[in-house]
Amino acid sequence: IQWESQVRSSAQIRRSGGMSVLVTGAAGFVGTHVSLALKKRGDGVVGLDNFNNYYDPSLKKARKALLQNQGVLVVEGDINDSRLLAKLFDVVHFTHVMHLAAQAGVRYAMENPNSYVHSNIAGLVTLLETCKSADPQPAVVWASSSSVYGLNEKVPFSELDVTDQPASLYAATKKAGEEITHTYNHIYGLSITGLRFFTVYGPWGRPDMAYFSFTRNILQGKPITIYRGKEQVDLARDFTYIDDIVKGCVGSLDTSGKSTGSGGKKKGPAPYRIFNLGNTSPVTVPTLVNILEGHLQVKAKRKLVDMPGNGDVPFTHANISLARQELGYKPTTDLQTGLKKFVKWYLSYYGYHQSKPLN
Ligand code: NAD
Ligand code: UGA
Repeated sequence: IQWESQVRSSAQIRRSGGMSVLVTGAAGFVGTHVSLALKKRGDGVVGLDNFNNYYDPSLKKARKALLQNQGVLVVEGDINDSRLLAKLFDVVHFTHVMHLAAQAGVRYAMENPNSYVHSNIAGLVTLLETCKSADPQPAVVWASSSSVYGLNEKVPFSELDVTDQPASLYAATKKAGEEITHTYNHIYGLSITGLRFFTVYGPWGRPDMAYFSFTRNILQGKPITIYRGKEQVDLARDFTYIDDIVKGCVGSLDTSGKSTGSGGKKKGPAPYRIFNLGNTSPVTVPTLVNILEGHLQVKAKRKLVDMPGNGDVPFTHANISLARQELGYKPTTDLQTGLKKFVKWYLSYYGYHQSKPLN
């Protein structure tokens, strides 16, 4: 009973026309920011996260505490737990599901392939089964990935491009997710929006990602490894700041329309959409390091190595016309500004004393 009332109170809508959203992966990087933004404007939010130890679980606990302070409950559990999902949908008629829980990371797929199948395929199906049977059905917005473009050489990457060359198992599971969600849209009338995020960074970020681990190593005087592509070409990424991604997520929820099915019966066409959420301005990895050195006022010990062939792609570059048109998506933070905010957060979170103002 107490659990139910906590869930209900977290899901309570405090603005007219608001929504009640189940956010999976809420103790993750993107999930925390999206949950906070929704709660702030008066939507009801319930989080779900299994707090796995892919990276430091204490960071996930700290994000959970931040959310709890703002009245967002994060339930501890796995998206593969169909009984838990059914219980949550019994207590709350979620209007939307923001599905961000996944095994992320490109290179880790070579170490632990089954964790990708568990969360990104089996977990996704379990969640969609719950959504299709819920009455009313929630609209689903979920995180795909820029990695589905794989070895695509046509730049900038457009949603109309063929994506049949995944370069990692991670990318393959995200691509599979796009196909799987399509079938739930087609058969059961679930409203589906897939978002292809491009290398997201910012405060409360992921310690496994390059900008984060580079910062840690630079401050600790340890070397950093910079991968280089064929013929010594620098790798480049369309790094996208978290606040821009959050706006794209919220815009997607706001425009996702209604599912048309109910209780598993199809009633009419519901939207199936895919959008790139990137920054449209790729930056090379050595330039990323230069910017970090500037903000940290410490020189990095660089080790240049050939790209080890572990799933990385040479570059990413988003065409965002479609998201601009349909979602009003308009990224506003460049890498220099965004990394300054990240470094400020990093120094404060890990208790560094800032003797000089940031560059
Ligand atoms: P994250 O790892 O910080 O967040 C994912 C959260 O999901 C974690 O807190 C984890 O504990 C949880 N989780 C994982 N498997 C789960 C399961 N089976 N059941 C319940 N919870 C589970 O990653 P993020 O950077 O916040 O990414 C969010 C989503 O966006 C992911 O789907 C990721 O693949 C996708 N994405 C991220 C980026 C990026 O650059 N950050 C880029 C493209 C796509
Ligand atoms: C990131 C996320 O980790 C994925 O979860 C996400 O799906 C993907 O973005 C995406 O956009 O779809 P990635 O771009 O590989 O993947 O992000 P990082 O791990 O931060 O790597 C950024 C760049 O730094 C890559 O070019 C990588 O090769 C390079 N790198 C990484 C190094 O040069 N050295 C390292 O030690 C680590």
